[in-house]
Amino acid sequence: MRVTMIGAGYVGLVSGACFADFGHDVTCVDKDANRIAALRRGEIPIFEPGLDQLVATNISQRRLQFSTEPTGIGEADAVFIAVGTPSRRGDGHADLSYIYSAVREIAPLLPPSAIVVTKSTVPVGTGDEIERILREARPDADMHVVSNPEFLREGAAIYDFKHPDRIVIGTDDARARSVIAEVYRPLYLNAAPILYVGRRTAELIKYAANAFLATKITFINEIADLCESVGADVQDVARGMGLDNRIGSKFLHAGPGFGGSCLPKDTMALIKTAHDYGAPVRIVETVAAVNEQRKRAMARKVVAALDGSIRGKTIAVLGLSFKPNTDDTRDSPSIPLITALHDLGATVRGYDPAAMEQAKLQLPGVVYCDSAYEAAEDAHALVIATEWEQFRALDLDRLRTIMQEPVIVDLRNIYRADEMARANFRYLTIGRPDAERKQGAAARRRKLGNGKATPSKELTGAL
Ligand SMILES: NC(=O)c1ccc[n+]([C@@H]2O[C@H](COP(=O)([O-])OP(=O)(O)OC[C@H]3O[C@@H](n4cnc5c(N)ncnc54)[C@H](O)[C@@H]3O)[C@@H](O)[C@H]2O)c1
Repeated sequence: MRVTMIGAGYVGLVSGACFADFGHDVTCVDKDANRIAALRRGEIPIFEPGLDQLVATNISQRRLQFSTEPTGIGEADAVFIAVGTPSRRGDGHADLSYIYSAVREIAPLLPPSAIVVTKSTVPVGTGDEIERILREARPDADMHVVSNPEFLREGAAIYDFKHPDRIVIGTDDARARSVIAEVYRPLYLNAAPILYVGRRTAELIKYAANAFLATKITFINEIADLCESVGADVQDVARGMGLDNRIGSKFLHAGPGFGGSCLPKDTMALIKTAHDYGAPVRIVETVAAVNEQRKRAMARKVVAALDGSIRGKTIAVLGLSFKPNTDDTRDSPSIPLITALHDLGATVRGYDPAAMEQAKLQLPGVVYCDSAYEAAEDAHALVIATEWEQFRALDLDRLRTIMQEPVIVDLRNIYRADEMARANFRYLTIGRPDAERKQGAAARRRKLGNGKATPSKELTGAL
């Protein structure tokens, strides 16, 4: 089948490359001429494991093309729209201007019986407006607009696209359903469930799913805070909850708050839509507010770890992307954390395996380093903000030798308290005060100072 993908960003590029890999003839169109030129040279503008190989293979087998113009769209069996829908400045509604201008641009070029598929995350009713624009531009045509929200995760995007938990197809039109089912047929053969629903329902499924995930994260984050107050361990609480099949273990990892290109903006957009329709989603409103405060509040943990002041001190921050295996820093918790550390008078040395270039655009005041160890050089504390694999087995002896003070604030709970105690580190976590207390007691019993750094004060447990 012939597929045109409008927008060759994260979703458009991954979806286009995967559709090509299924055997379809795919053209990815993007307005960004630099992006298209890079893609044509075989350079991948985003960091996504396996994507370079997938794109190269499908280019060489002539199933994948890139263009700044929607050439060939007149022969497309399906036209997918995967342009951005960021938060609108000022009010938090989804900014649909990219969607509507893309639709106006392609309207005159579409085949008369086009199937236009919205892959972007769009509020309920957007499909109706797209249909209206198309009807106005092409009154004689018989086009259909389908909602097909995407659920892939950055960092595991290809796997997710090829092994979806479900494929949601929102349309009441039988011809549109069968065209989209044909596009996804290779996955259907692998028994990925296809959910045929109305278009508005499909649009809402995406927002409801993301809002639920955001709620789950925020729930365990608040339980982590409670653990710190009552002396319980959030990892054990999460395990005890997650083993219940009705709850499930995923998205129950306490941390610095959710970020990324989707959850923050999608929760906000759902809140706005719900208000517009007079059916407020109060739980989601609370989730968004709690999460926003939490990200900046993480700086308080660093302050507490350094006995109440970080003015004039140096803090190493490991991880700038919002999660591992991506270079995406959109709404990353590291950004408000670092901004707060700067506001409190600290110097920040940062390192990320993939996201440094993106981070430099948002955080010009950071001293960017080439490795975790370079970042830790002369630092008074080291903060683990993103759980990249390479941060999971740091050489603690080496760190203690090069840091000014042996303090680690682990916002992802990736180390064990006893190993930190053995390495004579003061170790603060999220929601594991008991582990910290035990670790502090063990550390006190040990002889300190076999490296450059020595702990500045005994660990007191709860922050
Ligand atoms: N990133 C994710 O993990 C993810 C997951 C699921 C859904 N989504 C949703 O998918 C949509 C796209 O997200 P993304 O992260 O891929 O965005 P992105 O910013 O990475 O990519 C959007 C691309 O669209 C291009 N574009 C904008 N207007 C255009 C036009 N008129 N013609 C051609 N190209 C145009 C931009 O140049 C850009 O390259 C959003 O609605 C998002 O919420 C994203």
